Parts: sequence; structure tokens; C-alpha cells
Amino acid sequence: MSTTNPSSEAPLEGGRRRLSLRRRPDAGSPASAARARRRSKQRRRIANVAGLMAALVLTGVGYSALAPGASAADDPTGNPSSAVEAGREIYTRSCITCHGSNLQGVQDRGPSLIGVGEASVYFQVHTGRMPLVRQEAQAAERPTLFSDEEIDQLMAYVQENGGGPTLPSGDLRDGDLAEGGELFRLNCAQCHNFTGMGGALSSGKRAPTLLDANDMTLYTAMLSGPENMPVFGDNQLTPDEKRAIINYVQTIKTTADPGGAGIGRVGPVAEGLVIWVVGMGALLFGIFWMGTKA
Ligand code: HEC
Ligand code: HEC
Repeated sequence: MSTTNPSSEAPLEGGRRRLSLRRRPDAGSPASAARARRRSKQRRRIANVAGLMAALVLTGVGYSALAPGASAADDPTGNPSSAVEAGREIYTRSCITCHGSNLQGVQDRGPSLIGVGEASVYFQVHTGRMPLVRQEAQAAERPTLFSDEEIDQLMAYVQENGGGPTLPSGDLRDGDLAEGGELFRLNCAQCHNFTGMGGALSSGKRAPTLLDANDMTLYTAMLSGPENMPVFGDNQLTPDEKRAIINYVQTIKTTADPGGAGIGRVGPVAEGLVIWVVGMGALLFGIFWMGTKA
């Protein structure tokens, strides 16, 4: 917005006046200089107030001009039919060739989207997996092609016409940390590694690292089970358990290495191994060295 103009000009004017004032005392008497200083101070104050008023008015005008558009944009539910309609247009342009005109799927191109819900659309499109560009072993993660608003519209369209799991709300990390760690080791670690760094799967696929995923991506991945990841519906893991897992993953992401050498967080066994190998090496070297001395 242009509100910075008036407020940034006002002090500048004051500054200029102060400059000219500074030259004056050399010429005039101290009394007139003091008067001039007072006057200039007053003028500067008036200029500042005027600038502030102008900024306020501009802010008000700018806000009232923008507000209706902004509130319509970030509240798609305010007018669901238009969001669904906009979603249909995007779907027709970018998804229909593989997922069919009624979300029913297209043989050898793409699966049905009936029942996958907005959660799956959130996951697939926000991570840039969809729209798929070419048939490959695994949909790659790319920068997403759509704005958040467009993705909301796609979600509304698929939800309206196919139904399925919806997005959760509230704090997605609101769960017990220790329980989250336990559940993670039981349900996720065999593919994503104990450290969340991911790893290779049989079948030539790969479980990606979880360390880049945000809370909603984690939640919707569990709800939708992409590729060979199982679906963790609310019967497999309750919403509270999902939040505990998310809390755990986001915590291991932010904690620094818990001591020891930074050798990829592979854990105490490997750390011990490194110490053993290095230590034994040093010991053997010492023995040989003493041997040559003898
Ligand atoms: C070139 C074909 C192609 C296009 C275009 C495409 N998809 Fe897909 N889509 C696929 C395939 C194949 C899969 C299944 C493989 C996978 O999950 O990686 C899939 C899976 C999905 C899934 C997961 C379904 C589930 O079972 O959870 C969603 C959601 C999805 N697509 C949404 C979209 C949306 C939205 C668009 C348009 C923005 C789109 N796709 C465009 C081919 C396509
Ligand atoms: C059987 C192996 C397997 C298990 C178990 C599994 N995943 Fe996955 N996960 C995958 C695969 C494979 C992908 C990649 C799917 C794709 O690219 O479409 C994936 C993708 C993800 C992603 C997306 C990461 C990103 O940034 O794109 C998240 C998040 C995720 N999994 C979380 C979990 C959580 C949490 C659990 C435990 C509750 C879990 N996974 C259990 C195999 C698994």
C-alpha cells in the first residue's frame, strides 16, 4: 500500500529544515536562533501529525477497498458453490485426462478419486506430486503448480463430488511426545527410518524423508496413504495418536544432535563402532610403534 509515502516524507521535510537551521546560528543572535528552532520544531510536529493523519486515511481507504475481495478469497466456504465451480474448471483443465470426467478414474492413466477426499488432494497437490506429468515409477515431488486458493478449490470440488476424509483442524502437534515416539517406531520407522530420514523400499521405490513435511502434510499423508504407504484411517490411528506422531516428528526435526559426533544420527551403536575402530587403530599403532622402538 502507498501509506508509506506521507509518513516517510514528513520526517524528511523536517530533516531538511533542521539542516538549514543549523547553518543559521553562525549568522544570527542566539535568541533568534532559539526562536527559529522552536518554530521549526513546531512545524515539524505539525508535519508529522499531518503525515500520520494522511497515512491513517490512506490505510482506511485501502483497507475498505481490499477487504471484501480478501475475505472472499480466504474464506472459500463463504460461498461453497463458487469454490466448487472454480475447482471444476481447474480439474477439467489439469486432471480430467487421467482421473475422468466424474472422478471415476481412467484405465491405465489414473485411479478413481471417489472417496479419497480433500485430504488426499491436499497432500498430492501441495507436495507437487499432482498433476502427474508423465508416467513414472513414483510421482516426484515438485514445486506445486497451483496457488493455495486454487488447491482449496480443487479440494472443494473433489470433496463435493467424491466425499472422503476431510482436513483436520486445530493444533496438529497437540499430542503426547513419548506416545508419539512409540507409535512412530511401531508404524512408520520400518519405511521412513528411525530418524525420519527415509530410505529405500523393495520394489525400487523410496520412502521420502519426513524432515521437510509440515504438520498438514504429515496428517494428510497418514489419512490418504500415498503409493505403498498404508492408509492410517482414524480406526488405525486415532486423531490424538496422529497428533502425537506429528509432535514427535517435528520434535526430532528441530532437536540438535543429542551429543556425540554428527554421523547422520544413526544412533549409539554406530557411534560406538566408530569409537571402537578409531580407538583400536590408535592402540594398534601404539603397539607397532613400541615394537619398532624395542
Ligand atoms: C498424467 C496423469 C495424471 C494427471 C494429469 C493427474 N493425475 Fe492424479 N494420479 C495419477 C496417478 C497415476 C495416480 C496414482 C499414483 C500415485 O499416487 O502416484 C494419481 C493419484 C492421485 C491422487 C491420490 C489418490 C488416492 O488414492 O489417494 C489424487 C488425490 C490425485 N491424483 C489428484 C489429482 C489432481 C487434483 C490432479 C489435477 C490437478 C491430478 N491428480 C492430475 C495420474 C494423474
Ligand atoms: C510401508 C512403508 C511405509 C510406512 C509404514 C509409512 N510410510 Fe509414509 N511413505 C511411504 C512412501 C512409499 C511414501 C512416498 C509416497 C509417494 O511419493 O507418493 C511415503 C510418504 C510419506 C509422507 C510424505 C513426505 C513428503 O514430504 O512428501 C509422509 C509425511 C509420510 N509418508 C508419513 C508417514 C507416517 C507419519 C507414517 C507412520 C504413521 C508412515 N508414513 C508410514 C511409505 C511408508
